[in-house]
Parts: sequence; structure tokens; C-alpha cells
Amino acid sequence: MTDLPKTDLTKADFGENFTWGVAHASYQVEGSWKADGKGLSIWDTFTHGGGRIRGKANGDTACDFYNRYDSDTALVKEMGFDAQRFSISWPRVLPNGVGRVEERGLDFYDRLVDSCLEQGVEPWVTLYHWDFPQVLQDQGGWTNRSVLGWFEEYVDVVTARLGDRVKNWMVFNEPCSFVLIGHLLGTHAPGNRSLRKYLAAAHHVNLCEAVGARVVRANVEDANVGTTHVVTPMRTVGNTERDRKAKASIDAISNRIFWEPNMGMGYPVDDAPLLRGIDRYLKPGDDQDIRVDWDFVGVQYYQRQMVKPWPVPMLRGVPWISRNHREYEITAMGWEVQPDGLHEALTRWNSYNAVPKLYVTENGAAFPDHVVDGRVHDSRRIAFYEAHLRELRRAIQDGVPVGGYFSWSLMDNFEWAEGYVPRFGLVHVDFDTQVRTIKDSGYWFQRLLEAKSTEPA
Ligand code: FCB
Repeated sequence: MTDLPKTDLTKADFGENFTWGVAHASYQVEGSWKADGKGLSIWDTFTHGGGRIRGKANGDTACDFYNRYDSDTALVKEMGFDAQRFSISWPRVLPNGVGRVEERGLDFYDRLVDSCLEQGVEPWVTLYHWDFPQVLQDQGGWTNRSVLGWFEEYVDVVTARLGDRVKNWMVFNEPCSFVLIGHLLGTHAPGNRSLRKYLAAAHHVNLCEAVGARVVRANVEDANVGTTHVVTPMRTVGNTERDRKAKASIDAISNRIFWEPNMGMGYPVDDAPLLRGIDRYLKPGDDQDIRVDWDFVGVQYYQRQMVKPWPVPMLRGVPWISRNHREYEITAMGWEVQPDGLHEALTRWNSYNAVPKLYVTENGAAFPDHVVDGRVHDSRRIAFYEAHLRELRRAIQDGVPVGGYFSWSLMDNFEWAEGYVPRFGLVHVDFDTQVRTIKDSGYWFQRLLEAKSTEPA
């Protein structure tokens, strides 16, 4: 194939020990929602019950990764990547959330890790990517402080089994997303719309970052321990005092509340009056117990967020999308394409000086694909990756210590409330037949990463 866009980016630009990976998550790809004794997760009940999901979709089958992990891992390698980031489904391993371990569930992750290692793909494991056990949700989930003990037990079971082979661990995927969207906005599981629940869950999740990191270190020799955060830089049209306050408030509510407590900086209540009630959930000693010495933080970047002043004193600002003001290309998620936001996100995290290393653990885009004669053309996705990798290279040249880059996602999958409509994959999935086809963007990476070409003629 000769018609792929050329690039002057090279693998060498990013340094010798740079990790190139793809990412995905248990609920979005595995399927087999009731197989081998698995318990229900909040996403199983949300998709089958009260949640509003585009196309009434669910993850019952998803990409059938549970049965196809071996050949899917071969695709990771074929495209030239050397790492695969996946997550563990808590209720697959502990159907009741705590107590009895389901060996068949744990065996699945054992086989997946072995498959990665046999094929020369480094496993990067996220302990929690949103599929919380329903039985524990029935007891309040993240809003119940007992979750500290539940989570400790779960992390202990997983790391004790996989820690001899898995060295790279991420405690959470994007606390902002599952706490804020799941507890305050209600459009993700568990579908709550409550300020109190949002604040309680936020504090307990922040404490669980420390619990998780401690257990990983205790069970895994030479562990590389981190977590991941979606980093959404905020911007306003104007630059008045009201604009600045609006921006600071929304930034505190969605970003800083999940980042700064773990660095010993407390909660950003001065900038966000909405957060004042969080004091109610703090116990003596929490300010110490919440601190974490991360080896790395995974920055996940998709878009910037526009904010405008809002005359509600608790909020001061509100996220805002004005289609008339859009100056940027829009993805199938309705997100603005702003590659330099990746540079901004990395630079901002680096300025904290608290974390020795950063990885980009997710970045990617959904666009409509064009399937022609067995080939999948996705030139806009290629342009997206090329532009974002340029910004990443610029950040590295500026001295930001970035150790790797993970594309979201290996393959098209269940995109939460958006169902199967937005396609993020480097590999196209036909959800009727489960046939996989590497897209042009996958071959573009294959060239960049200097892997053996398997491009169709
Ligand atoms: C991120 C999530 C991931 C996926 C991408 C598109 O916020 O971590 O699971 O949904 O967005």
C-alpha cells in the first residue's frame, strides 16, 4: 500500500526506551458478561436497566476479547506496538466484590498476561476501569467508606496472582470520569445525580489511590506504580475576572480535586465553593493517608473544554459548547481537535514537580471509517495521531519526562453511553461477525514503529 500519508516523525524522535502501546478496558471489550462465574458489574446493570445508552447497546458480547485475546494481542504486535494496557474486571475475579475468589476469572487474566509476554507485548494493567461490583454498589459503592477495605482486598488478590509477571500498574482510570459523570451528572453508571455522592466518592477514591499503590508495592517486586487522569485544559472566550473565576472553579471540580490531594496539597475549595461540603467526609489522619509517591502518572488527553461564567455562586462557571464558536474540527464524539492541548496537559502535570515520569496512557479519536474492498480508510484519524504525536515530541524536546504513548484504542469497542457508534480503534471490528481489520491508521503506526509490513497490496 503506497497511499498512506507520509510523515517526518520517526520512532527515534521519542527516544530508545520509549514505550509504544495500545489501550482498552475490560467492560468495553471482553463480553462474556456471565461466563465462568462472573458477578454483575454496575455497567451490566446500567446497560440492562436505568441507563440511557445509545442504540440500547450493552457490553454482553462487546469485542469478545474474553475468547479472542490471543489473536488480538497478535494484532498489537503486528502493528508494531510493544505494550498493551488493559484492565481487570473486579466482579470477574470477586463475584461478590469481596470474599470468594473466582479462580476461572483470575485464570483468564493469567492467560492474557502470559499471551502478552509470549508474544513480546508488555502488559500494563489498570486495576479499576469503571466496572464496579453491583453487590458492593448496593451498599453504597464508592460513597461508602468501607470501600477502602473492599478495594484493598481486591487489589491484594489481583497483584498477588499477577505481580510476578506484571510490573506496570495503574490504580485507576480517570477518577474524574467515573466519579463526576457517574455520581454528579448521572449519565454513566451508577447513574447518580447527587452532590453529596460526588464529594463522598471523590474523597474515598482519592484515599483508594493510596491504598491501591501501597498494596501493589507490597506485593510486586520492582513495581512501576501509577494512576491515570484525564487532563482537560479549560479555556474561556474572554479574560475578565469573572472568566478567570469560572475557569478556576470548573478546573477544580473536574481536575484538581482528583490530582492534588494525593500530592499533599489538599482540596482546592478556595477556587470552587461547590467542594466545601467535602470536609464532611474527611477523618483525622486522612491528609497523611491520602498521599502517594507515584512512579508515574498517566495523562489521558482528548480535548480542551470551553467554560463560561455562570451566575450561580456555588459554581461560578459552566462547561459550554457553542457550535457557532467552534473553530476546530469535531470528532464523532463532538470533541474539538486541539493537538496543542496535549502539550499543555503534559506541561501542566510536569509543573507539579511531584511525579518523576509521565506517560500518555490514552489519546485517540472517533471518526467515521470508510470501508472499501476490505480496506478501512481513516485519514482523519491518521492526521489526528500525527498532529498529537508532534505535540508530544515538542513536549519531550522541552524537557517533559514522557516515557511512553498508548493509543486509545486497539480496536473499536463499547464506548459507554455512546454504545458502538463512535469507533476509536486502530483495528476495525465488525460487531456482527467479530472480524477484525487493521485500519489505515494501524498500518500508519506499523510504518512509524518500523514493524514488518503486512499492508495489503
Ligand atoms: C476515556 C476512557 C476510555 C474511553 C475513551 C474514549 O475517557 O477512559 O474508556 O471511553 O475516553
